[in-house]
Amino acid sequence: MKIIRSVRQMQSHCRILAANGKSIALVPTMGFLHEGHLSLIRKAGKLCDRVITSIFVNPTQFAANEDFSRYPRDEKSDLAKIKKAGGDVVFIPKAKDIYPDNFQTFVDVQKLTRTLEGNVRPGHFLAVATIVAKLFNITRPDVAIFGMKDYQQAIVLKQMTSDLNYPIRFVIAPTVREKDGLAMSSRNSYFTTEQRKEAVCLYRALRRAKVMASENISDLNAIRTDMERVIKSICPTAEIDYIAFTDFESLEPLMTIRKNCICSLAVRLFNVRLIDNMKLL
Ligand code: PAJ
Repeated sequence: MKIIRSVRQMQSHCRILAANGKSIALVPTMGFLHEGHLSLIRKAGKLCDRVITSIFVNPTQFAANEDFSRYPRDEKSDLAKIKKAGGDVVFIPKAKDIYPDNFQTFVDVQKLTRTLEGNVRPGHFLAVATIVAKLFNITRPDVAIFGMKDYQQAIVLKQMTSDLNYPIRFVIAPTVREKDGLAMSSRNSYFTTEQRKEAVCLYRALRRAKVMASENISDLNAIRTDMERVIKSICPTAEIDYIAFTDFESLEPLMTIRKNCICSLAVRLFNVRLIDNMKLL
């Protein structure tokens, strides 16, 4: 497995792969890898000749009050996991190489970023779209794979791929969960064992919504109230940022449950902010 740390070297390596007729799949990550990330790498291996995994804790997508400095990092363990999952190349650029002094270009996907996470984290998706556009330009992949766990991010990046005419097949892979249902996330490592048990409240609330939707309850306020009750009963100190019901493709808010309705939520638990989502119908 090859480890590349410079942008120039990564570009020339990809040019050689393409010249030799090898298809490339890109899996962008911020490291501290878990089974969710590894499922993307394994899927990538099925779709292309070569899998490039990038590890870059992108400083610009964290607001000043967020967890950039304490975001978990473990390069050695990540490399072992990627190798085992069948990765071929790991791209680990330095921040200075990605954002040289005078850097001033950003990619703004407009409508889709003005809701949900974009409301609570202004500037977040501007930074995510920019780093992913840069990774696309550096590696020129045939396929790029993202997780449903960060579903708004996936929809925003899919739109960017189309709007900017990237010749890339955009794949969204299912959320990998822990045994109790908690969506895997690098941020789960912040919890103590006791706190971790309460983190299941997001999944339980989503399951409750799904059951209510399947019972033909279409009043979203009733569903939201029940979800809040589930969350508070499991984790009394939880602070709910939002519980939203939107159209899966457009992210437009829905007034009632209907086909293609997805429920997403963001909750703060013990100073850790978690997000999750589930398609209801
Ligand atoms: P990160 O949080 O490391 O996630 C990298 C990729 O793994 C994303 O596509 C994310 O949706 C996916 N992923 C995370 N948890 C998952 C799970 N439980 N199941 C399936 N997929 C999961 O998302 C980012 O990094 C960054 O914003 C990035 C796109 C790399 C840009 O900096």
